[in-house]
Amino acid sequence: MEQSAAAAQPAVEARSLTKRFGAITAVDGLDLELSPGRIYGLLGPNGSGKTTLIRCLVGLAKPTSGEARVLGVRMPDRENLANVGYMTQSDGIYADLSVWENLRFFAALAGTRDKRALDDILDVVDLSARRNAPAHQLSGGMRRRLSLACALVHRPSVLFLDEPTVGIDPALRVQFWGYFRDLAANGATILVSSHVMDEADRCDELLLILRGQLLDRGSGAQIRDRAGTPNIEAAFLTLGGREASE
Ligand SMILES: Nc1ncnc2c1ncn2[C@@H]1O[C@H](COP(=O)(O)OP(=O)(O)OP(=O)(O)O)[C@@H](O)[C@H]1O
Ligand SMILES: [Mg+2]
Repeated sequence: MEQSAAAAQPAVEARSLTKRFGAITAVDGLDLELSPGRIYGLLGPNGSGKTTLIRCLVGLAKPTSGEARVLGVRMPDRENLANVGYMTQSDGIYADLSVWENLRFFAALAGTRDKRALDDILDVVDLSARRNAPAHQLSGGMRRRLSLACALVHRPSVLFLDEPTVGIDPALRVQFWGYFRDLAANGATILVSSHVMDEADRCDELLLILRGQLLDRGSGAQIRDRAGTPNIEAAFLTLGGREASE
C-alpha cells in the first residue's frame, strides 16, 4: 500500500514556488509533493502563506516564479478545475440565491448535472431542510456548510479546504472529518488548512509552514518527537524558534 502510493504520480506538486506581493514574500521557494488518497494538514500562523499557497496550487494566483501542478497538469488550467474542489477561507456563495440554486450554480460551473450528487452533498452538510432558503438567511455556520457543499458538489479528486470547519459545531465537525476520511479512502487527495490542533491529529500528514517556507512535515507524532514537545503548538514554537535563531 505504502509502496504503491509512493510509486504513484503525486496528486499535487509545487516546484520552487514563490509568490511575492511587493515587498512581502508570501510563499518562498516552496517544494511539495502530495500523494493521492491522503489527508494533509496545512498548519501555520496568521500570514504564514497558507491561503496564498492554496491559491497558487488551484491556479487562482500566478506564482512570481516556480510552478504548481495538480494531477500532473501545470496550473492554472481551466479544464483541470473539474478535478479540483476549493473551499475558500471567506464564503464564496451567492447571498441572493437559495441553497439549492447555489449548489446548482457551482455544479454547472464544473459541468455536473447529476442531481443525486446535489442531494447527497446537501445531506452531508445537513442542509436538506433549508434547500429553498436564500443563503443570506442562513446562520454563519450554515453558510460555511453550504460553501463546503459547493466545493464538493462535482466530486473532485483533489480538494483544497481553507479552514473549512471554522464556525462549525462539534457534532458536525466530526461528521465532516468522517466524510473527508471516506473521500480519501476512495482516492481523493485533501489539503486542509486549520488552526484547530485536535484536527491536526486527524490528518495523515502535517505540513508546517512559516514565513512561506515548509518548516517540517510528517505525522503529528513524528513532528512532536522531532521537536521533543508534547503537542503540535509547542512543536511549532520550538521548530519555529530554532529556525529563527539559525
Ligand atoms: N492580495 C494580496 N496583496 C498583498 N499582500 C497579500 C495578498 N494576499 C496575501 N498577502 C500577504 O501575504 C502574506 C500571507 O498571507 P496568507 O493569506 O497567505 O496567510 P495565511 O497563512 O493564509 O494566514 P491566515 O491564517 O490569517 O489565514 C501576508 O503577509 C498577507 O498580508
Ligand atoms: Mg488564510
